[in-house]
Amino acid sequence: MCGIAGYVGPRNAVEVVLDQLKRLEYRGYDSAGVAYRNGSALKTVKRAGKLTELSGLLGSKLPVSHLAIAHSRWATHGAPTDLNAHPHSDQSGRIALIHNGIIENYLELKEELVREGHVFQSETDTEVAAHVIGREYDSGVELDEAVRRGVRRMRGAYAFVVASADEPEKIVAVRAASPLVIGLGDGETFLASDIPALLPYTRRVIVLEGGQVAVLTPAGVVVTDVNGASVAVHPFEADWDIESAEKGGYEHFMLKEIHEQPDVVHQCLLGRLTPDNRVVLDQVFSNHVLQDIDRVNIIACGTAYHAGLMAKFIFERMLRLPTDVFYSSEFRYGDPVLSPRSLAIFVSQSGETADSLAALRLCKARRIRTLGIVNVVGSSIARECDRVLFTQAGPEISVASTKAYTAQVLTLFLFSLHMAQVREMPGVRIKETVAALRKFGDYVQDAMAGEDQIKGVAAKFKDARLVFFLGRGADASLSLEGALKLKEIAYIPTQECPAGEMKHGPLALIEPGIPIVFGATDPDVREKLASNIKEVQARGGHAIVITTSDDVTLGAITDTLIKVPQTGNTYLNALLTIVPMQLFAYYTAKALGCEIDQPRNLAKSVTVE
Ligand code: F6R
Repeated sequence: MCGIAGYVGPRNAVEVVLDQLKRLEYRGYDSAGVAYRNGSALKTVKRAGKLTELSGLLGSKLPVSHLAIAHSRWATHGAPTDLNAHPHSDQSGRIALIHNGIIENYLELKEELVREGHVFQSETDTEVAAHVIGREYDSGVELDEAVRRGVRRMRGAYAFVVASADEPEKIVAVRAASPLVIGLGDGETFLASDIPALLPYTRRVIVLEGGQVAVLTPAGVVVTDVNGASVAVHPFEADWDIESAEKGGYEHFMLKEIHEQPDVVHQCLLGRLTPDNRVVLDQVFSNHVLQDIDRVNIIACGTAYHAGLMAKFIFERMLRLPTDVFYSSEFRYGDPVLSPRSLAIFVSQSGETADSLAALRLCKARRIRTLGIVNVVGSSIARECDRVLFTQAGPEISVASTKAYTAQVLTLFLFSLHMAQVREMPGVRIKETVAALRKFGDYVQDAMAGEDQIKGVAAKFKDARLVFFLGRGADASLSLEGALKLKEIAYIPTQECPAGEMKHGPLALIEPGIPIVFGATDPDVREKLASNIKEVQARGGHAIVITTSDDVTLGAITDTLIKVPQTGNTYLNALLTIVPMQLFAYYTAKALGCEIDQPRNLAKSVTVE
């Protein structure tokens, strides 16, 4: 997500950290800032916008300094403004802090600090962290001990980097979850959120683990746990070239983003589940408004539309709330019938899709309540919706959407659980569902275990002239997304529809050897699906069936069986099938030598009609 850079040593520190941030630019950001040692003080310069804005503020002759920390922010809490940009300072102004990730209990900590007289400049959880650490520092301990004490008060998934005006050659870094890497030089030490920012300077790298605190000086690094016990670290030689380092060692951003999904699940759920397994979504409408909603319209394009289809299934099954899903381009010109008590939900990764934005403006003109499910904070859709739930998936670079889809479905699922709580829906087992959600990131990781098998399946069917994607219920909406992935990056025509529709026409397209991918996670319709499998096999089709690990019936009648973990929840089981389908599209495109991250004719953000 956000970029972190740090340097202590004989070079011009400001120049080094700005160069490091530049090397992290590919990850996307919307503001940037630096804190550097200036005489006996720390000077902070920060600005909304691109790095050129920050460089403009610093002037053409960069200040000379031997310690600096810098940050490029991709907004999650608070808009991308100068004030919300990092670094942030504590109450005394002695320390500067940059941060990636989320502090879940920041509101509680902020209230405590406000009661003690602390004054805050920004809306960020980062500034709260600076104040928590600053308060410990005021008691006279060294900076690293203040960080350790402060961190013990914070909950969440984050990484911090802190410097103090009083300790001229020391940077303290702590990792709870978000990545941090340290580069060892000769009489100099570097720090970054990602390896590409270190490679021009050093290839001796330490990857900090969760729960570790590192103290960087020009002489090197000392690592402890959060209680101060020393920890042995093992530097390695990073032999990646810069391009593959940007992709985290993966050949394409798409594969990197597929593999990021377990972490995306954690990010998406962060701060939204209570210890007693309930859902908290502070950002949505009041309970009174949520109780009043009589109908939901979900409006989106492409992959986001498919996330909407899955949500329709959940809203209608779980909440008994009538829900329609529209393509934005159809909705805006379709003179839609809108109940004044309805809720319009706009799903968008970029938040800039022209048709979705126009549809949103139409709803606003008709005074319909609007909710955004958006990834990019500060985007037009996020700004213009009445309320927004951010998907918290981090920047998505590959044109084909993968992790954003998973985060969209999960966010919509969280919203439906919140609605179920507010509307006191009998029969919705919130606690069990939340417990399953907590483990979902691990299940997504387990679903990756089938990667080699899928690579083989992709190699076998790469020359297919048509691939079917079929399912029933929730699996049917997933099959649309699986088909879209294959056609957009491997350029193979697909036919996707509910399995029960086959006999009404598409069955005519089945020929010997044609692969048919079945999503088959729902036990309630498994028998029906077994008949569909037999139908296509009888015409020479090859059935590739994705089902849950506990299934004992489909294996016997299937040509290729792919298993995903049983999560204990119907919707989550169906969502898991996206992992093998994304991998299937990826490896098919790779086997065909396609341009995976930038497929022909497509753009990441469709800002024109
Ligand atoms: C497909 C894909 C597109 C987008 C669509 C909407 O992989 O990425 O179909 O989902 O263009 O974009 P957003 O979500 O930015 O509104």
